[in-house]
Amino acid sequence: MSIKHYLQFSDFTADEYAYLFARAALIKRKFKAYEKHHPLADRTLAMIFEKASTRTRVSFEAGMYQLGGSVVHLTTGDSQLGRAEPIEDSAKVISRMVDLVMIRTFGQDKIERFAAHSRVPVINGLTNEFHPCQILADIFTFIEHRGSIQGKTVAWVGDGNNMANTWLQAAEILDFKVHVSTPSGYEIDQSVAGLRSADSYQVFKDPMDACRGADLVTTDVWTSMGYEAENEARRKAFADWCVDEDMMKVARPDALFMHCLPAHRGEEVQAEVIDGPQSVVWDEAENRMHVQKALMEYLLLGRIA
Ligand code: CP
Ligand code: NVA
Repeated sequence: MSIKHYLQFSDFTADEYAYLFARAALIKRKFKAYEKHHPLADRTLAMIFEKASTRTRVSFEAGMYQLGGSVVHLTTGDSQLGRAEPIEDSAKVISRMVDLVMIRTFGQDKIERFAAHSRVPVINGLTNEFHPCQILADIFTFIEHRGSIQGKTVAWVGDGNNMANTWLQAAEILDFKVHVSTPSGYEIDQSVAGLRSADSYQVFKDPMDACRGADLVTTDVWTSMGYEAENEARRKAFADWCVDEDMMKVARPDALFMHCLPAHRGEEVQAEVIDGPQSVVWDEAENRMHVQKALMEYLLLGRIA
C-alpha cells in the first residue's frame, strides 16, 4: 500500500480538505473544553528542523502530546544530517523508529527524497517552495471568520515565495482567486509553484490594485529563511510592498488581514494593520496546532466517522 504524505497542498483533494477542516473544528472544540482526545497514543512524531521555527515546533510538539503521542526533535546541528549523512539513509533509519515525520528544510527535492525512502508519512513543515501546513491553518481561519473561501479573492502582496506558491495551489483546489503583486524579479514561477494553469490568479504591478475588492489581504517577510544574502537588494526592491491602511481601505470593508509570522512591522506590513481590527494573525497562529492535529490523525488513521 502506498503511504500518504503531505509534501505540498496539491497532495490532497477538495474533499479531503473539507474533511480536515471539519475535523480540525471538532478537535479545536475538544481542546477548548479540556476534553481528552488521544487517538495517537503510543505513536511518535519525529520533527526535523534544518531552519529556525517557533510556531511550527510548538504547534506540532504540543499537538502531538495532546493527541496522546510523543515527539523527537532533531536539528541539522545536533544530528548526523549536519555531517552529510545521505537524506535517503536518514529516512530509512528514522522511519523504522517513529510513526510520522515532519521536516522543515531547504529544497523541496530534499523532502521528496526523504519521503521516497520513508516507511511512514512525511509532512512538509516548510521548504523553499511550499508551506502547506500554514495555508491549511490560514484557510481554516478564513472559514472560521467568514465561511467558505470558494469564489473569494485573496490578495498576495510581496515575495513570490513558498507562501505565495502554496496559496496558488490552494486556489486551484478550493476554487478561489488570488491577486498577486510582487516586485519585478520576485514573480511567481508557475512551474516551481506546481500549478496546472494561470486561471486561478491574476498579476498586478501595483499592490494597491491587487488589494482592490479582496476578501483577504496577506503578505510575508521580504527575505525568507535561506535567502539572507539577498537582504539588501530585497529591502530596496520591496520598499513599496508594505501592506498599509490605504491598501486595506481598497479591499472589501470586511476584508481580513493575515500573516504567517514572524512579521517585521514597518517592512512588509504597517503596525496599524497587523495590530488593527482586521488582523486575525493570532487566530491564524493558534490554528496551526488544531489543523495539524487533524492532519496527523488523518495521515495515521484515515477518516474517522
Ligand atoms: N509561520 C511559521 O511557520 O512560523 P515558524 O517559522 O515560527 O514556525
Ligand atoms: N516565507 C517565510 C515563512 C516563514 C514562516 C520563510 O520561508 O522564511
